[in-house]
Formats: sequence, C-alpha cells, structure tokens
Amino acid sequence: MKNTDALKEIFSSSRVKTDHADLMHWGTDWTRSFDIAPQAVVFPECADEIVALVKLARDRALELVPSGGRTGLSGGAVASNNEIVVSFDRMNQIKEFNSTDRIVRCEAGVITKNLQEYALDKGLFYPVDFASSGSSQIGGNVATNAGGIKVIRYGLTRDWVAGLTVVTGTGDIIRCNRGLVKNATGYDLRHLFIGSEGTLGFIVEVEIRLAPGPKPQRVLVLGVNRLDDILNILECFQQRIVLTAFEFFSELALQKVLKGGDVQRPFPEPCAFYALVEFDVDADEEAAIAFEEALDQDWVTTGVISQSDAQASALWSLRENISESIAADTPYKNDLSVRISEVPGFLSDVDRIVNEHYPEFDVCWYGHIGDGNLHLNILKPESLSIDAFFERCHQINPELFNLIEQRGGSISAEHGVGLLKRDFLPFSRGDAEVGLMRELKSVFDPSGVMNPGKLLSV
Ligand code: MLT
Ligand code: ZN
Repeated sequence: MKNTDALKEIFSSSRVKTDHADLMHWGTDWTRSFDIAPQAVVFPECADEIVALVKLARDRALELVPSGGRTGLSGGAVASNNEIVVSFDRMNQIKEFNSTDRIVRCEAGVITKNLQEYALDKGLFYPVDFASSGSSQIGGNVATNAGGIKVIRYGLTRDWVAGLTVVTGTGDIIRCNRGLVKNATGYDLRHLFIGSEGTLGFIVEVEIRLAPGPKPQRVLVLGVNRLDDILNILECFQQRIVLTAFEFFSELALQKVLKGGDVQRPFPEPCAFYALVEFDVDADEEAAIAFEEALDQDWVTTGVISQSDAQASALWSLRENISESIAADTPYKNDLSVRISEVPGFLSDVDRIVNEHYPEFDVCWYGHIGDGNLHLNILKPESLSIDAFFERCHQINPELFNLIEQRGGSISAEHGVGLLKRDFLPFSRGDAEVGLMRELKSVFDPSGVMNPGKLLSV
C-alpha cells in the first residue's frame, strides 16, 4: 500500500493533503532559505491518531515534522526531505478551565492570542507575548520555549507550563506533572519536552497556569545616541521600578517599520537607537524621576510617553513590526544572548565584528536587551543570491559564536536551533552535553522519526 493510502486509513482522505500548494504552505516556517519538500500533510484531531501515525512512521521509516503556526525563525518546522508534516490546526480547542487552580487546558493547536484573550475573559492573564502571537500556536510555543517581550517580568513559556501531554517517538502517550504545584517524584520530563523542538515527541495538550489580571501599562520610548548607554538606562529604571518590558531597536530598524506607513516616528529627531520601556501606570512618578536622571546623565536625548492604550500600542508597533518589516530583505537572523552583566562588553565586541565583516551589508539591531537577548539581522543586498548571502553569513558565524562561547552565552536565545543553528550548537553546548542530548533522543525516539535533523544532526 502507498504511504498516502496508509495515511488515509488513519485520517480519511479529507485530512491528508498532497497538492503542491498545500505542501508548500504547511511544510515550512518563516525561514526562507531551505528547500520545502514534504510528501504529505496530515491533520490529526486527537492524540490517538498521532499514536497511530507514529506507529506507521516507525513501520515504514517515515519522518514526521510538526507544524504549528509556522512562525518559527530557525527552520524547526521545515520539511525538506520527503517528510510527513503533522499540522495541529484541527487540534485547536480550549478544553477546560479551573478557576481554583487557575489552569487552562488546551490542545496544542490553540493560537497564542486566543489563549491570551481567553485568560483576560476570565479576569486573568497569560503573560507570554510576542509579535507573532496572532498566528503562533501554544504547542509550538512550548516546543521552542518561546520568550518574547515580557520575559523580564514574567519569564518564558516554560514558567507557565503546569502540565503536558505528549506522544513520544515510541508511540506512547505520557502526561507530565498534571497541573500540580508540588511534585517531588523524580525527573520532571515536562521540562525535557519544553524547548525540544519536537525531536523527542509531539505535544498534544498543554496545561497553562494563568497570572492575576495585569494592571494598566505605560509605554515610554527613549532616544539614545550610544549603544552603551542602553544598559545604563536599564539599570537606572530598574533601581526604581518593576519593568514589564525593556526593548531596544536601531534607527535602521525604525526606518524599515516607518516605510510600512502604519506608524509614525515617536519624536521628530532621529536617534541612533531607541529604548522602549513598559511598566505599571502606578509607577509613573518613579519612572519620571528615572527619566530625569537619564536625561541629566546624557544617556537619553528625548522621549515620549503613552497617554492612552491606543498610544501605548502605537509605540509598541515601532518595535513589534520590525521583524515583518525586514522580512522582504531576507535577513540572516542571529538571536544571541549573554548574561545581562555581560551585555555592555558583548555589544561593543559585536559592533566591532559587524563593522569589520559586514561593511557592505545593512545590519539591523533590535532585541530584548533587558533579558540579555540581542537580535542581529544582516540584510541581504539585492545583488546577492540567497545562497551566496547565507554562505557568507555562515563563514562569519564562527567568529561571532566564538565570542558567545567566551562569554558563556547562547547562539539561540529564543528562536530555537532547528536547521539554521544546528551545526553551531557546540558553541553553546559542550561535547558531553550534546552526547547526552543524543542519548535522550534515542530513548524517546529510537527509530528517529520525530523531526529528524532538527536541533541535532542525524
Ligand atoms: C522579535 O523579537 O521581534 C522576534 O523574536 C522576531 C525576530 O527576531 O525577528
Ligand atoms: Zn525576539
């Protein structure tokens, strides 16, 4: 029997797609540099169907690639090798809410924004947030341990996962932690699946803990002339108030966003860099004192503060629209992190490498600087082919990643490793550690059917 016929026995014809356009749509993420070549896309509606699929994959040596909102930036959901793409689009139900536990149980395909809105309807808050939350799915967020713009205050996706149901590469369904607060019964496998990029098993259901409802927020955008001063500003504000976000972006990033025509410059004078600070409105007075001090110290040249929710979200658009605004430039994305105390030295080293190696390329900087996370996007000149451009970037990577290694940082702070950063993993993980990761992979996925070639080479 042909593979597609065997798949139709599990999913029925209507939930197996093989048309070229469908393969191209579901077989990739936001990266643009990999071939897309799956053989089929399937749309499970329950965990049991995924169990049957894993068994089929093991019998027939088929490779499975999970596909959520496809907003990833490291090729973790790209199918380039005749794989079966497993879309979670039809597993998109919020199943249960328990107000005493403040836990919501959702299927993996629930859109992040729908979960955020559901929480607000219950008077609560799901604080993990990022520009792609209107498309990304909670299962993918967990599989990549998504970060985003409020990590400085609320942490990563990992910090909100109270339980997980997973179909492993052995075809078993396991329930990890079951929403417990306390559970001292040995290895917490939940945390192995979080950030595993679908290489150990596919997440089918997630129990998410919710926070108390948020207070109204204030957004401040500051003009900054020297990169070094960004950290001075962070410290100056953090000494006085609890920050919900502390982001930065460069003038080039702002120009790209302004080109879209949806938003305006925050203030007339262009600055080399901008910092975006968010905090509870209760902290207005203390924030004003911090702003005055930053002005006195010459760390900040000017600033604008939101007076309404609409203004706050317009200011946020300056930062959140960057990724989409530069997509047409086919950026080579670096998503780097170091400890916050290492940020100033790291920034000046990166600046030097960039000027030395990329003098002819436009480099667009932005990131979650309050978390030590810097997005360094090198924009492709029109004159270069994608392949030539990526090859050039890959040649320079070792120098950049050596720096990361020396400073004990990470080559992928929040985008994951996927295909894009896989060969550079040793810059962030030691040999013994990678060896153990491989052994774990072979325990959970002995036939190598779960997203092979991502994170670890085959
Ligand atoms: C962001 O911070 O905007 C996202 O991580 C996406 C990106 O880096 O382009
Ligand atoms: Zn980011």
